[in-house]
Amino acid sequence: MASPSKLKSVLRRRSSIEQRCREDEATRARLRYQPWYHHPEKQEGAHVWIGGKRMLMMSSNDYLGLSNHPRVVEAGETALRTWGSSTTGARLANGSRAYHRELEEDLALFLGKEDCQVLNAGYLACMTAVSTFAQKGDLVLVDRNVHSSLWSGISLSSARVERFAHNKPSDLQDILLTEDRSIPKLVVIEGVYSMEGHIAPLQELLEVSRDHNCFFVLDDAHGFGVLGDRGQGTTGYLDRNNEIDIICGSLSKSMASTGGFIAGSKALVEYLRTHSKQTIFSAAISPAQAACARTALRLLQEEPEHRERLWDNTRYYKRLLNQLDLDIWESQTPAVPIIVGGKERAYRIWKNLMDRGIFTVIAIAPAVPPGRDLLRTAVSARHSREDLERVAEALSRAFKRS
Ligand SMILES: Cc1ncc(COP(=O)(O)O)c(C=O)c1O
Repeated sequence: MASPSKLKSVLRRRSSIEQRCREDEATRARLRYQPWYHHPEKQEGAHVWIGGKRMLMMSSNDYLGLSNHPRVVEAGETALRTWGSSTTGARLANGSRAYHRELEEDLALFLGKEDCQVLNAGYLACMTAVSTFAQKGDLVLVDRNVHSSLWSGISLSSARVERFAHNKPSDLQDILLTEDRSIPKLVVIEGVYSMEGHIAPLQELLEVSRDHNCFFVLDDAHGFGVLGDRGQGTTGYLDRNNEIDIICGSLSKSMASTGGFIAGSKALVEYLRTHSKQTIFSAAISPAQAACARTALRLLQEEPEHRERLWDNTRYYKRLLNQLDLDIWESQTPAVPIIVGGKERAYRIWKNLMDRGIFTVIAIAPAVPPGRDLLRTAVSARHSREDLERVAEALSRAFKRS
């Protein structure tokens, strides 16, 4: 045990940065209320156990419910036995393996692109999809509601940035009309907005973008596996997707794995392999992750019943929420926010739901626009109708008490 004088001198030696971290209000509030970073000790189907209590998982993005599918689990096990646990290196140096290329070829084919590169996180992939192609002197036009990974990519690129109103092609058009045509431009959007559950008006945005010769980056993390007649994502609504230069996304949602992808023309993906620091200097995704994602991609094509059940569940859940007159921000997808408005109320309702065995997650400003504090829920093919009825019942009671 340190003496009081020793303790004092240790405290005195703290750097101003450590002091700033210790005094950070957001961290203190998080630790006081504990709304995030839970540690379930067990998981079965759509349920997790926290402190021995069974909770219905309503916040994960396992849209197709494939994370425990026997074929996905078996593929992961086989890959682990065949290749070991890790490539322990970056692709460029020593990390590329046949299973990376197989996954990339399957993804490219499925997305209708010539080539694809996988990275070890969706965040990294989406950030890279912007930072690799935008550079100082360029202009990035971005929907103001995009995910943090895309903002990180924009910051890293040092390009100038202009935000356009969420899902408003006319605003994009207005901004473009004021800009010098000779400046290289990128348009950056999401196919499905992860908090709002909104689908981008892709065709209209592409038309505006084409008129101004913009490079188009689509993050389809939440559309991939969910939308389109085959689960190909938001591009399923287009006649042709070759006007989209880059489609990036995550393997941690419908693909029930971990990792991310960037798909585009051969020339663009080869350029990325030369220039993306996140690819060159970061270890490749593990054998098991790649195998699980590749199998999930096959299941998406071979077993349409998962997507059908996902959409059945989504329609049913939204009907229940509409009956309760809850504001779901006009969500068009299985990502269903419940707007609460005000972070104190969001916290109370979230806590009440937790006490009733329903696991949701709160998103508060600045992660969402001010006054749009929300509980984010996401429907999975794995939920049963009874599960969703339980959520509606719990929401009804929690809102009455708040
Ligand atoms: C739109 C969007 N892009 C990228 C990501 C990052 O994906 P990952 O969690 O696989 O890193 C997310 C994650 O939630 C997301 O919602």
